[in-house]
Amino acid sequence: MAHRAEAVEFQMIDLDKVVSRAIAEFSGTNDANDLEHIKARYLGKSGVLSEARKELAKLPPDERRDVGARFNQAKDKIEAALAARRDELAADELDSRLGEEALDVTLPGRGLARGGLHPATRTLERIEQLFRSIGFDVADGPEIETDFHNFTALNQPQDHPARSMHDTFYLKGAGQNLLLRTHTSPIQVRYMQHHEPPFKIIAPGRVYRVDSDATHTPMFHQVEGLWIDEAVSLADLKGVLTDFLRKFFEDEKLRTRFRPSFFPFTEPSAEVDMSCVFCDGAGCRVCGQTGWLEVAGSGQVHPNVLKACGVDHEKYMGFAFGMGPDRLTMLRYGIDDLRLFYDGDLRFLAQFT
Ligand code: DAH
Repeated sequence: MAHRAEAVEFQMIDLDKVVSRAIAEFSGTNDANDLEHIKARYLGKSGVLSEARKELAKLPPDERRDVGARFNQAKDKIEAALAARRDELAADELDSRLGEEALDVTLPGRGLARGGLHPATRTLERIEQLFRSIGFDVADGPEIETDFHNFTALNQPQDHPARSMHDTFYLKGAGQNLLLRTHTSPIQVRYMQHHEPPFKIIAPGRVYRVDSDATHTPMFHQVEGLWIDEAVSLADLKGVLTDFLRKFFEDEKLRTRFRPSFFPFTEPSAEVDMSCVFCDGAGCRVCGQTGWLEVAGSGQVHPNVLKACGVDHEKYMGFAFGMGPDRLTMLRYGIDDLRLFYDGDLRFLAQFT
């Protein structure tokens, strides 16, 4: 009797109805959060199913098993419907995101602007390439130099008047010992100190002087040349430079001339001029009506320099030169203001790429 009485108290909920209501609610929402709230209402700890399940305790054990199994089936159905709806919502969400972020891969690209080398760098690379092709090595040295390498070893002891030819940047706190190299000639010194002749080198690099106008910038470039062997003459110097300039300007008729000059580190010394590439020597505005353009200093290396650098000056001799590649760049590309090189104006620079 007791059994029956309890069985009567037990109010069996309609599981099929609960399942179909849950499924209807799941498909009634398009919102993933909302879906989880609905889930809680059916499957949560105090959800419809859990609450109803508590009633099971009132059933006799044999009935309880059957009804419990039906609860489990209902729960499985609701869970399956939930999982299916979750998948649908995730797929919808992906679809709409793909729609919003649509990318037309057939549109033409914006393109990458092509970079290029600075005209000064192009010239240095071209010079290196031309000198390498006739057997010269390329040497390098520091831009902060000692007084010894920049002046003394180059036959310009302290108080030598030729030092005033260069307006030098000295480094604060180092007395007059450290400076920004005023020319690439100290690379000659370093190279000779560490190598046994014979050798042929060029040394391109940045140099610094207190100077600024349309044809002078505080930083500019030089290319040093040095050829030391047992018998190297000024004829070799003239041959090398003439050949180089003809190749650089792609003009086989270009002429050179050597004007006597003075440099402390060479004896004899000469300024190297080439026939004007604009008027072929007839005289024009660029060459100041002379027909000639000055492009380098040069000469036979002074025995004092060889001595200071530890080279046997009885056995070896040679020549050196120092060119201004910025000038060569201006002439080659027809640029009339050196400051354009360092303004960083892309409208100017892009013309050389
Ligand atoms: N160093 C010199 C200058 O800056 C240029 C120069 C002249 C270099 C004659 C040389 C040379 O090697 O032989 O004015």
